[in-house]
Formats: sequence, C-alpha cells, structure tokens
Amino acid sequence: MRLPPGAAWFRVGAGDRAGCTGANKRVAEQQDDILTLDHLGKTFRVGFWGKKVVAVRDVSLTLKRGESLGYLGPNGSGKTTSIKCILNLIQPTTGKIHLFGADPSDANARARVGYLPEAPYFYDYLKPTEVLDYVGKLYGLDAATRKKRIPMLLDRLGLSQAMDRELRGFSKGMLQRVGIAQSLLSDPDLLIYDEPLSGLDPIGRKEVRELMAELRQEGKSLFFSSHVLTDIETLCDAVCILDRGEVVAQGRLADLLRMDKLESEAVIELPVDGLETARSQLLALPGVELMAQRGAILRLRLPTDVVPGLTAAVVEAHATLRELSQRRESLEELFVQKALHVSTDGQRAAPAARSM
Ligand SMILES: Nc1ncnc2c1ncn2[C@@H]1O[C@H](COP(=O)(O)OP(=O)(O)OP(=O)(O)O)[C@@H](O)[C@H]1O
Ligand SMILES: [Mg+2]
Repeated sequence: MRLPPGAAWFRVGAGDRAGCTGANKRVAEQQDDILTLDHLGKTFRVGFWGKKVVAVRDVSLTLKRGESLGYLGPNGSGKTTSIKCILNLIQPTTGKIHLFGADPSDANARARVGYLPEAPYFYDYLKPTEVLDYVGKLYGLDAATRKKRIPMLLDRLGLSQAMDRELRGFSKGMLQRVGIAQSLLSDPDLLIYDEPLSGLDPIGRKEVRELMAELRQEGKSLFFSSHVLTDIETLCDAVCILDRGEVVAQGRLADLLRMDKLESEAVIELPVDGLETARSQLLALPGVELMAQRGAILRLRLPTDVVPGLTAAVVEAHATLRELSQRRESLEELFVQKALHVSTDGQRAAPAARSM
C-alpha cells in the first residue's frame, strides 16, 4: 500500500497508545482534569503589514473525565483556532493548555486524543481499510491490534460494505464516518470533534449523534464544536459559547438554562359579556405578554411564577383556562441572546473576528 505523506496532527511518539506514562499520567488521572484552557489567546498576523487578528481571547475552561462539552459560536468565533491550539497544530499567543495534565506538545498526551477535523481530507485513492491502517501505524498500533480494530470500527460506522472501495466515490456523510472511525482507532480517552454533524443529512446526523452518545456512555470525554444547537443540548453536560473569540457564556447546561427562566403559555377563553374588561385585567398582570388573539381566545406567555396570579384573575374575570404549558429557555435562545447580538429590530450585528 502507498502511504501518503504524514498528517502532522496525529504524528505521535512510537510508545504505547495509552500514552502519558509515568508521572504525568498519574498526576493527571488523580486530578481528573482531561483538558484545561487557561486564559487561552491566539492572535494571527495577516497581510503585508502584519495586521493583528484576534481569533481567541482569554478563554478558560476545564473538561473533566467522562464529561461532554459543547464549544459553540457563530462562524469565525474562534472554535477551530482553539482546537488547533489544543492539538498543538498552532501555538497559542497567550495562556496555557493542559492536555491530560501535560503540554499539548507532549506526544503521549496527544496519543490519547481522537480528532475529527472540521473538513476531514483523505487521499481519495485510498480505501477505508488503508486509511485506517495508515492512521493505526501513526498511532503506533501493532499489526494484530489494527487487524482486529479496523473491521470492527468500519462495521460500527456502517462502512463494512464500502471497505474496499476507494474514497473518491464516497459521499460527504461516508467520508465523515471514515473520519470518525479513524478518530476511534486508538481507543482514545478524549474525542475532539470539530463540527461533527455538519454536512450530514438528518439520518446521518441522528446516527452520528447516537454514536457520540454511546461513546459518552462508554466513558469517553467529548469536546466538540457544533452549530446544531439541539444536538449540543442532547449530548452535552456543559457548554462554552464564544463570540468573536471571547467567552460570552459558559457552564453546565442545567445552570445556564436555569429553572427560574421557566416560562408558561396559557390559552384562555374570555367571557362574551365583559370581554374587553377581562382582557385588560389579564394583560395587566406583571410579565404577561399577548402572543395571539383570535376572537375570545387569547394565547399568553408569562413567567411561571405569575401562573397562580393568572389563574386567580381568570376566575375573577369569569374566563376559562383552556391550556397551560411550561417551556424552558432553549439553548438556541441563549445562543442567540449571548452570541449573535440580535438587536431589537431583529438584525444581527457583528463582524466575526476583531482586528487591532
Ligand atoms: N491562519 C489564520 N490566519 C489569519 N486569520 C485566521 C487564521 N485562522 C483563523 N483566522 C481567523 O480567526 C477567526 C476565527 O476563525 P476560526 O476558524 O477559529 O472560527 P470558527 O469559530 O471555527 O468558525 P467556523 O464556525 O466558520 O468554523 C476568523 O476571523 C478567521 O478569519
Ligand atoms: Mg471552525
């Protein structure tokens, strides 16, 4: 088989795949911190005059063992740049990164990472088995391990039928699966996926999402960027939202989408006699917002703690409560509010990165 020139990011030491042997490993495992970004910053210099572009500014976060962290942000907010720093592909301008307690330049620490790039590129004259064999060699896996794991992973990713076909005939979704298969080859402890769900059709997205959920169940730690917010909501324990290189919100999902932000929706039928009076009484309650009205039927949105006041007012106004439901603030709403700077007229502000 022809081996293409190496892919720099996963060229690791020839040692065992478990990597991080010795003191580093022991310390990291005691600490339980898989990945730490400590005031990470990255500034690029572009053009003839070396103009500064701040891609990432002062990002700090910690990913614990077995956790799943969603790295969110609009286009150009610095997600891929951060990931490249974590993988030692580029050097941070400021701050520190600890990967399994070590510096990302430590090949043994990187050996414990499975990486799916934003746009995985493979030599298209190779077959999936050849790609995986090549990656397995880069990880220092012995022939017996490669022989065992490659068919198993191709099967898990639904690529068994295509294992002997050249990649040039593969669809985007199939290539994404090859990318995921190679990320799992060394049985890594941490998976770093840059937009793993982009470009996949709904079925492909569902399958990859399920696979990621399974990997999480198996105890792997996940760090992934995505624009598909509902997927982040279902897959992540915590999120970090970036905007123009800066963290605008971060924390555990349960805390960010707090229970006190619960809202309720009520459908109320007003009495025919005194319709206008009843309507005014209900709309005068604090926090009540009229969503729609059709004849005597009102759809209202209100903070959940106002519900008792609303029900009392409904009785008093001789109206009828037809429906009452609760809804939690969604991650999408939080994202829009924090990252997209949607102004009151609904226009999105903002250039992507900051120049200096
Ligand atoms: N090598 C580079 N040289 C100069 N500027 C760069 C370089 N790489 C990234 N940038 C700039 O840094 C900013 C962040 O880019 P990055 O690719 O990290 O964003 P992203 O959040 O991954 O975006 P997307 O969602 O589109 O993938 C952008 O403004 C980009 O133009
Ligand atoms: Mg990106």
